[in-house]
Amino acid sequence: MRANLYLPHPIYIDSGEGATLTDIDGNTYIDTCMGFGVCVLGHRHPEIAAAISRISGSGWHFGIHSEEQLPLAQLLQDAIPCAERLLFCNSGSEATGYAMRAARAFTGKEKIGIFDGYWHGMHDYCMVAPTAVDSRERPSGVEISTGIPKAIRDLIVPLPYRNPSAFDIIRANKDELAMVIIEPVQHSNPQREAGAYLKSLLEVCRECNVLFALDEMVTGFRLAYGGGQEYFGITPDFATLGKACGGGLPIGVIAGREDFMRMFLPKPGEQGVFTGGTFTGNPLSMAAGTAAVRYYSEHPEIYARMAAEGDRLTASFNDFAARHNMAVQMSNVGSMFHIYFQSGPVRSSFDIDEKPMERARQAFLMHALNLGVLISGANRYYLSAAHSREVVDRMIDVFQESLALVREDGLF
Ligand SMILES: Cc1ncc(COP(=O)(O)O)c(C=O)c1O
Repeated sequence: MRANLYLPHPIYIDSGEGATLTDIDGNTYIDTCMGFGVCVLGHRHPEIAAAISRISGSGWHFGIHSEEQLPLAQLLQDAIPCAERLLFCNSGSEATGYAMRAARAFTGKEKIGIFDGYWHGMHDYCMVAPTAVDSRERPSGVEISTGIPKAIRDLIVPLPYRNPSAFDIIRANKDELAMVIIEPVQHSNPQREAGAYLKSLLEVCRECNVLFALDEMVTGFRLAYGGGQEYFGITPDFATLGKACGGGLPIGVIAGREDFMRMFLPKPGEQGVFTGGTFTGNPLSMAAGTAAVRYYSEHPEIYARMAAEGDRLTASFNDFAARHNMAVQMSNVGSMFHIYFQSGPVRSSFDIDEKPMERARQAFLMHALNLGVLISGANRYYLSAAHSREVVDRMIDVFQESLALVREDGLF
């Protein structure tokens, strides 16, 4: 079996409960993967489990629409600031793919602006990444997979993250640029000072008649109930969502301004933007999503609590590393966090270079695993509402013990 994430030791999960996972050998770990950010309420939340059981009593896949879609659509429309209209699909990658197609149709332009450090999914238009090999100010695009047609490179405008020179690149390409897409907080590099940059970026996009899209796949229902839009007070032309919206089942969502979303709803005789797939809007995802989003709406206090625990975990980690002069740091925005085995400020992905400390990083993951915290090596970590103060206290202890063991290994 090919794994698409690094684990310090091969592990196969048997079950999940709250903040923990249990593997097939019976070991229980505090989880930091949380289904790649999906499980904001922890594993096997009782209200989501009840919704899934209810659907299992009436059939879970029809293809034809069911009434399960409506309550989720209404909840999402109320929660997401830019959601004048919305569309369901099955994954985040589908959502960004459809959004790019619709942006081309809406603007009549073909290029898409993408920042370094991004992740917007697995389709071809997301497989050309900005690289600083030639210049940090004017990155070039490089394929991150084999099998990507050369023509894709010409359709991507690589942009440097949190760097004002991105604004000049957008201005220079405005006649060909359909949209710019950005995560409100990059899950590969969570930095809190992103707000002012996002606002300037939105203004430049407006000035250049380029659609501004927020990819809220991770930040939606995680940073705040209204996602990064609420957190930073910024409303994009449209947003792509998924993950937490589906309560743990596959889902993708595009939510946006009425005139843009009309592209998906052609008038009779118009061709329109095609979307659709076998599992779109399936009752299981809709019911699990409704239960989850309803819970978020009824318990907005989870966001302040998750953020406080994320801040506490990060502060204690960084304090310990500084006191012991270790070249490692943690960065978080709310419940999203990342551990970098390097010192010095990390502004964008171009500053991340963990190769020199790779052995230390792997040893840290292994020690933490032995001490009962599963860190996936995917460099994207999450707390959930089920990570209580006691659980985070244990994580703090395990991280400190693990760092001390890395020092004993002679790897710092
Ligand atoms: C910001 C962002 N966009 C898009 C995606 C793609 O979503 P999916 O894996 O559901 O296709 C992800 C997945 O991690 C993501 O984090």
